[in-house]
Amino acid sequence: MTDAPDVDREWWKEAVVYQVYPRSFNDSDGDGIGDIPGIVEKVDYLDELGVDVVWLNPVYESPMADNGYDIADYQSIHPEFGTMDDWERLLQELHDRDMRLIMDLVVNHTSDEHEWFVNSREGDEQYDDYYHWQQGDAEDDAPNNWSSFFGGSAWSYDDERGEYYLHLFDEKQPDLNWRNEDVRDEVFEMMNWWLEKGIDGFRMDVVNLISKTEGLPDGAEVGGLTGEEHFVDGPNIEQYFEEMYERTLEGRDVMTVGEMINVDADRATEYVGEEGFSMLIHFEHMGVDTGDGGKWTLADLDLGELKRIITDWQETLAEEGWNCLYLSNHDQPRAVSRFGDDGEYRRESAKMLATFLFTLQGTPFVFQGQEIGMTNADWDRQEIRDVEAENHVDIALDEWADSYEDVRPQIEARSRDNARTPMQWSADENAGFSEGDPWIKVNERHDEINVEAAHEDAESVWHFYRELIDLREDRDIFVYGDYELLLPDHSEVFAYRRTLGDEELLVVCNFFEGEPELDLSEFAGDREADLLVGNYDADDENLAEPIRLRPYEARVYDLS
Ligand code: NOJ
Repeated sequence: MTDAPDVDREWWKEAVVYQVYPRSFNDSDGDGIGDIPGIVEKVDYLDELGVDVVWLNPVYESPMADNGYDIADYQSIHPEFGTMDDWERLLQELHDRDMRLIMDLVVNHTSDEHEWFVNSREGDEQYDDYYHWQQGDAEDDAPNNWSSFFGGSAWSYDDERGEYYLHLFDEKQPDLNWRNEDVRDEVFEMMNWWLEKGIDGFRMDVVNLISKTEGLPDGAEVGGLTGEEHFVDGPNIEQYFEEMYERTLEGRDVMTVGEMINVDADRATEYVGEEGFSMLIHFEHMGVDTGDGGKWTLADLDLGELKRIITDWQETLAEEGWNCLYLSNHDQPRAVSRFGDDGEYRRESAKMLATFLFTLQGTPFVFQGQEIGMTNADWDRQEIRDVEAENHVDIALDEWADSYEDVRPQIEARSRDNARTPMQWSADENAGFSEGDPWIKVNERHDEINVEAAHEDAESVWHFYRELIDLREDRDIFVYGDYELLLPDHSEVFAYRRTLGDEELLVVCNFFEGEPELDLSEFAGDREADLLVGNYDADDENLAEPIRLRPYEARVYDLS
């Protein structure tokens, strides 16, 4: 790193995070399911790419109703993924290469197969109110009108206990009752247990849902979801976070990434910073191509809205706090298909999006396969694996669709399965992911888009990621530089300036297929502009003259 004036350094600000979705990363034993030994085999690959932190999606004992986000035992490894020894080995192999590991912490809910829930449903006094149990008005009339994020009511009736229980996600994911001190004790103890094993932090699943309004009253419907004013940022949320900090995180040099639903930048300032989370995964920019009806309503990318949201987060968290930068993860369709072009300009647009991600202020998160420009897939109904998508199809067929073909465009554009197709290592059968039958279909394009091919091609998306990772490591300005939006009204280009001390970068990203002309003279003055990185061949430019960008072109000029 270059020496920067007065920056508040943290290792997790300078890091690049790589997200491993274990089920789909690398299968070492041929059962069709990715596993921890499979990740160990690829640790050198991660090292070569140059990432610093691995975020591992849940690998704990689970009936897998939601691919591990339904945890049956927090202190175990699911046998399909391996053993605790395998996990210890992974941690060691990463640490040996100066990489860190953050684990997924899912404590808004457990699996209904967790012993706490099993005991609770049986009426065991000690576990009686570990969850939210309520009498319904009648057997088929839920206690309130809240909806589940996965569609339908957030309540299911349990015959054994003769009551309803709350689940903001699948019915196999009952919500924990955080008002109960014993629940908090158990969670904090478990967190300390993992921290003492030497992990480097947590990514905390939907963590701003843990507090619910007392009495669980009816709520209003907003954007296809009912009741959120009673479970998003609930009344005791700050107290729970404070307790969590004091009892687990305080004094430890760890990275904490809070996934938060419906949080905006202003609200985020209350959650990040000293004694708060390192950064938040928010969803605001994931709505720039959706209609009012939520994630399944498709719309064109609204670049103006993207600029507004990104700029708001960049500016609001500039002084205190930090941004988590992401365009892809296991819950989102592939960014190149969504915000770029996965046809003619796949390579260019994947590189443009990478440039965008790596030149904002914050910590970039790369989701497995993003570094080779993996794309969305086609989905026949029987190929769907994701519980959310399954529910959506069922509800659509019930309510408005004549056949699956009516729902198909939504599934193909938005289903989480798009992110979960196996990592494409080679053009071999099953993309080199498994020697058995993969649990989910392999993207047909693996013969063209795969790690082996990307390694061999100096112009590949993969090599471009390498270059960006190196640049970010070499130059503090990428990490700590101030952000300023330029050309706010330009309809095709997202442009901004980063400055740190005497250094200055100018970033221009063309988000569309057109070839807009751009006048950057007022920003460059009479300084020489050095083209630091770009996704097309281009010479250093005299920015006194207007330039013309090519489809999905991105350029980073150094004006220092
Ligand atoms: C957010 C996770 O990222 C997602 O995969 C999961 O389904 C829900 N939380 C419920 O845990």
